[in-house]
Amino acid sequence: MRIKTFATLVVAAGLLLPLMTLANEGESFPHAGNDPYNQASLQRGARNFMNYCSGCHSAKFVRYNRLAKDLAIPEAELRANLMFTSDKPADTIQSAMPAQDAIKWFGVAPPDLSLITRSRGTDHVYAYLMSFYRDASRPTGVNNTVLVGTAMPHVLADLQGVQTAVFKTAAVAGAPEFEKFELPQPGVLSPEKYAEFVRDTVNFLEYMAEPIQTTRRDLGVWVILFLMLFTGFAYLLYKEFWRDVR
Ligand code: HEC
Repeated sequence: MRIKTFATLVVAAGLLLPLMTLANEGESFPHAGNDPYNQASLQRGARNFMNYCSGCHSAKFVRYNRLAKDLAIPEAELRANLMFTSDKPADTIQSAMPAQDAIKWFGVAPPDLSLITRSRGTDHVYAYLMSFYRDASRPTGVNNTVLVGTAMPHVLADLQGVQTAVFKTAAVAGAPEFEKFELPQPGVLSPEKYAEFVRDTVNFLEYMAEPIQTTRRDLGVWVILFLMLFTGFAYLLYKEFWRDVR
């Protein structure tokens, strides 16, 4: 009986722990809906990142050749389309912009993005990239509802267009409350296509933050199956040992 209780506890803990970490992650952002198993999406995300982000942001924990291997990108294509700041595949991804210049231009250095989805959460980063809006009082001409007063310009304005934000006039004194976005000036992508573009990009950012993630998950399933099987055998053995004693 005791073994049974113990086994139940182990299985329950195995099921509950991942749920608890999930619950911790959940701020009030809608789910990014990305899929780290979708390699085509990751490849598009890598292309987006190199073209639209690596001008300012580095990803100093990620090497080009590792990326090419994980995402099945042939070396010729890697060199031609993805490596802008280096010609050595074993190099890590550096930004094209010297940190000193960045501070001069933006007031802050753009953070390294290798681990950004781990520190902020995937959904948070997705929401950030969806939430730039016109604000003439800012030096960049835009503001952001997720990171108010952000120093980052809306680098995807050509694609998304520039949204305007509608705020509820606050009933009580205090900051007006965000209500919704409008898109008076659309970009070259439809809102759906823009969301896909951001989803792919964020998918790639999540991959960079933990390149081993999919392997770990796949392995995890086998580990749980093994533990269940092992518990079964342990239980049979327990029955066998105690049969004569009882
Ligand atoms: C023109 C330079 C520039 C480009 C290009 C750029 N960024 Fe940024 N980014 C910045 C700066 C500057 C900050 C710091 C903002 C701050 O702290 O207010 C920043 C901050 C961020 C942050 C951190 C936000 C937070 O919660 O602290 C994320 C995530 C981010 N950028 C993602 C991206 C992605 C993804 C791209 C490509 C689609 C990109 N950036 C392209 C300049 C840039």
